[in-house]
Amino acid sequence: MGKSEGRGRKEAMQRWFLPLLASVSIIAGSGALTGGIVSAYSSGAITVREIADFEKLMKDIEFDMNEMQATIVFEETGPALDYATRLLESFGLVENFFIARGSADAVGWSREYKGLATGIAAYIRAGQFDEAYRVSLEFSEACEVCHDVYRPL
Ligand code: HEC
Repeated sequence: MGKSEGRGRKEAMQRWFLPLLASVSIIAGSGALTGGIVSAYSSGAITVREIADFEKLMKDIEFDMNEMQATIVFEETGPALDYATRLLESFGLVENFFIARGSADAVGWSREYKGLATGIAAYIRAGQFDEAYRVSLEFSEACEVCHDVYRPL
């Protein structure tokens, strides 16, 4: 985690939307990377309804996020991509959960997270591990935006 030293939470929050813009342009440039996954989850076929399932999902997200950062640091392309893809899928489930609850802001944050995961995956595929790591820090430092409002359920 040495690379994260000196990066303040406040600074990270201010930079929260910038990688999102980068992610959008990456998505536009590599639709084949994520098109299938995104459309599968936007179908609404998969949902998390029970709070116990939701807590398990959040624990998985925390685990995958930590593992993703570690594998990015060690430039392990395959595992890092697997974790980024799982995080994309997990936030699809979070999105569906909040769609079912009618919580528009949480749906928006879930979609932003899907965008970040997609951007990270694209950087990993391109071998741009410094960029992947930078966005993964944004990823880990913005969780509280939603927790502040919706935690506990
Ligand atoms: C869109 C909303 C949202 C986002 C974004 C979000 N969370 Fe959560 N998270 C929640 C809610 C709601 C709870 C509380 C669940 C409950 O009360 O049962 C929670 C709870 C948790 C928990 C505790 C689970 C437990 O055992 O009760 C962990 C760990 C967690 N989140 C990790 C994360 C991490 C890591 C991120 C960022 C990568 C993140 N969350 C982003 C909504 C979100």
